[in-house]
Amino acid sequence: MRQNEGRRAVQDVHWLSGTRLAALLALAATLAATLLWTGGVAAVGNDPNLQPILDATGTFQTYTTNGSIDTTNPFFQVLGTNGRTCATCHDRHDGWTITPTGVQARFNATGGLDPLFRPNDGANSPNADVSTVRARRAAYSMLLTKGLIRITLSPPQGAEFAVAAVDDPYNYGAPDHLSLFRRPLPATNLPFLSAVMWDGRETLQQITNANPQALQTDLMHQAMDATLGHAQAAITPSARQLQQIVSFETGLFTAQRSDNAAGQLHAQGASAGALNLSNQPFYIGINDPLGLNPTGTPFTPDAMTLYDAWASLKSSTANPSTASRQSVARGEAIFDRKPISITGVGGLNDVLGQPVIVGTCTTCHDTPNVGNHSVAAPLNIGTADYPARPGLDEQGLPVYTLRCTATGALVHTTDPGRAMVTGKCADIGKVKGPILRALVARAPYFHNGSATTLDDVVTFYDNRFNIGFTPQEKADLVAFLRSL
Ligand code: HEC
Ligand code: HEC
Repeated sequence: MRQNEGRRAVQDVHWLSGTRLAALLALAATLAATLLWTGGVAAVGNDPNLQPILDATGTFQTYTTNGSIDTTNPFFQVLGTNGRTCATCHDRHDGWTITPTGVQARFNATGGLDPLFRPNDGANSPNADVSTVRARRAAYSMLLTKGLIRITLSPPQGAEFAVAAVDDPYNYGAPDHLSLFRRPLPATNLPFLSAVMWDGRETLQQITNANPQALQTDLMHQAMDATLGHAQAAITPSARQLQQIVSFETGLFTAQRSDNAAGQLHAQGASAGALNLSNQPFYIGINDPLGLNPTGTPFTPDAMTLYDAWASLKSSTANPSTASRQSVARGEAIFDRKPISITGVGGLNDVLGQPVIVGTCTTCHDTPNVGNHSVAAPLNIGTADYPARPGLDEQGLPVYTLRCTATGALVHTTDPGRAMVTGKCADIGKVKGPILRALVARAPYFHNGSATTLDDVVTFYDNRFNIGFTPQEKADLVAFLRSL
């Protein structure tokens, strides 16, 4: 607003002397810079590259290959009927997703009337009472407490399972339309994707090295569905708008920039930060552990190498960050090398016919310095199991009981995941392993926000696979995850 007034002032003074005009232009520029520096929300124009943004334990940053973040791109425009833009749920100040803190701030500033708060998929049920502030606070409780958006999906025709029971505390989910609560995936670091959406349902054209256009096509389709669904558009966006959105979002790279304890994350030979991330080589199958790397290069568990240089830092009283940097480096080594006996993971143990696979975190998070799976590999690690596994909080999530027709087996789950796309019993609970960069900016974790903190994530894995982390190992691993 103030910036617009500044612009009008500049236009109105064309008759002024050159010096006064220059002075006014300088003033306007300072004003604009001030607004940008303070993170002026919805500033018209561009955000500078690599701007530090505060998060819970330091700062994160975004690098765009397009020069600067163009906040006039259709990504930031209302293309539907309910006031929402892509940025409503993919906020650049919140790691290109939303967080409970950000959601609560928006609720409090608007009495729950910000476009984020729309019943279609923001409320616990589309039929919820949203007539008063008090009613809205209850209706949007899952969004407010965990940053969850509601996705309605129907079991595909010919599914191998029937929905035997529905326990939806909000009385909306039913056997023919499941009401599922999921975290918005960050709309950044997209060139590393091997699958689009948690369940891969927007991977309409498989992303392969032979077909580099597939990701573009999939993302254009995703953007169209998001506009028709989340933004409740009456007409489809134009091909040009979709193209502009995809060009914008695929130019973005986001990573943690500094840590309150470890300091700058690209110092002393470390190679973290968003600029380095934008130069990280990637192709489908890179470092795949199961022989799917098209170059034939064998898998290395050392997928994360960002902090290798910090492993050999000498203790120093002169640099207070040294101890913290050593902890981050130890955490990286744990992530790469600490043996984990992987059992009962749908999509891995069953597919390979091996009840125990001795691996590491990087068996599944194999893409070098990115952390997603470099081929599409939906896995069930138990994050949607009901009752919830230790470390996870599934309070408030609807529970579905599925009966597999062939075996009669009953499965209790808060989200069938990939099975809602394929209809296969074997796919129940499978989701993709997401990219693990700029994690601090976007708590809570897992597709359903069931891990409130990175500590909870590590506690979950420790219990799930009986790893037996020492308190020091846990602290180091969290320090590393915090620095991604
Ligand atoms: C109401 C909130 C909301 C709005 C608005 C929204 N999204 Fe999303 N977005 C989500 C959620 C939730 C998911 C994950 C859903 C899932 O996987 O089932 C998601 C997933 C994505 C993904 C997948 C990323 C990945 O790693 O697979 C992309 C890309 C994306 N959104 C882009 C967009 C674009 C572009 C727009 C605007 C046209 C948009 N979104 C509007 C909530 C939203
Ligand atoms: C057997 C495969 C597997 C192993 C081993 C594994 N992960 Fe994961 N990881 C996944 C999958 C799949 C998800 C997504 C689960 C979900 O969202 O429900 C995930 C999600 C995560 C997330 C949440 C990211 C987000 O954006 O919400 C973090 C953090 C993470 N893993 C860290 C680790 C660490 C640390 C280890 C080692 C201790 C590890 N993972 C071991 C498969 C694995």
